[in-house]
Amino acid sequence: MILVTGGAGYIGSFTVRELINNGWEVVVLDSLENGHEAALSAALGGQGSGVSSKLHLEIVDLADIAGVRRVFDTYPIEAVIDFVAYLSVGESMENPKKYMINNVENFIKLLDVMREKGCKYIIKSSTAAVYGDPEDKYFPLEENYLQDFKPGKSCLLEGHWDGQKVKKNEFLGKILESYQQMFALRQDLLLTDEEKIKLMIPSSVYGLTKLFDEIIMEKYDKLYGIKCVALRYFNVCGASLDGKMGDDKPEPTNLMTRTILSILGNLGKLQVFGNDYPTKDGTGVRDYIHPLDLADGHVKALKLLLDGDKSDVFNLGTGTGYSVLEVLSEVEKASGRKINYKVVDRRPGDPAVSYANPKRANDKLNWKAKYSLADMAVTAWKWHSTHLKGYGD
Ligand code: WQD
Repeated sequence: MILVTGGAGYIGSFTVRELINNGWEVVVLDSLENGHEAALSAALGGQGSGVSSKLHLEIVDLADIAGVRRVFDTYPIEAVIDFVAYLSVGESMENPKKYMINNVENFIKLLDVMREKGCKYIIKSSTAAVYGDPEDKYFPLEENYLQDFKPGKSCLLEGHWDGQKVKKNEFLGKILESYQQMFALRQDLLLTDEEKIKLMIPSSVYGLTKLFDEIIMEKYDKLYGIKCVALRYFNVCGASLDGKMGDDKPEPTNLMTRTILSILGNLGKLQVFGNDYPTKDGTGVRDYIHPLDLADGHVKALKLLLDGDKSDVFNLGTGTGYSVLEVLSEVEKASGRKINYKVVDRRPGDPAVSYANPKRANDKLNWKAKYSLADMAVTAWKWHSTHLKGYGD
């Protein structure tokens, strides 16, 4: 049985459906803060109220370690796929503590329960945001960039700490200090100098928290034999082909969702965050990937982990970068509507360019992205235009 934490979320629910379609029995642990029970019902093709013999739902927050232990005591969990995280680049710069607690402290609680219960396999949702804002010569980004690149100083852009604006070169220090206070009694979580240098690379707190998680998983592998495959997603967007599953967040931050919601009148005028980047049309370039491709990647990573018993890390991206304006153009084609937008200042924490070299995942996971940016725009438009209130729950 596979435990999917955050399984009622966007990528989580697509992965739950893929696991069940591949014959796995699944237990979803989700607080439903951002997840939807209706997404699980849709994942089952609408059978029952989101729970069937193959799927169980436990409404638990990862912060509730007793609740997490109870789930492990109730089900024979062979492996975990963990999606739980806040994921807005912009918000993470404004409220870093919220991100350190949910994305790092609660993740460590999950690993500690896995260790107590003898569960030794985890697939971890990571992100391209761990790469920060690399120079052109490093593209397309390879997984070992984090080993090779040694920044002289933290790449964190300016943000806020306790509501006060904090200078770029002080931000990482404050976060490391809070981490060390949080885990003062945990010798096994002490950071080496090399790890602290690696943590200088992300340009957003969101990316930093995910890199913390990757570093901590390396420690749990060495110390406790917990094997992990980290999957660094690039920019996920799109919906299911049947239009029944899609992105539904209380505060959507990602470009395609915000663009479509602005057309549907649910969001006000779309803002383009900067058109003065050193890119083809001045707007940010990203590697967009469909949730169906990500779900396929998770199931293939799970098979590799259970067969190979070895930790690893893979980029899940298409290998092609598209600018903000190219995304808007695909959404206009998919919707048949003109997008009215306003160019504003850059968003703190945003790199200019980010796109993957997915070769390791292609070769070792036997995985390759199948869906195009046009597929993402067409499926996302179908989902949002027929679900004005998302899952409506
Ligand atoms: C994309 C581009 C913005 C909104 C996201 C998630 C992060 C991670 C990777 C999973 C940038 C621009 C956006 C808007 C805009 N996901 N933009 N106007 O920040 O690259 O990262 O995917 O791990 O969780 O945040 O994605 O869609 O927010 O931004 O101009 O209203 O679109 O500046 O260039 P991002 P995004």
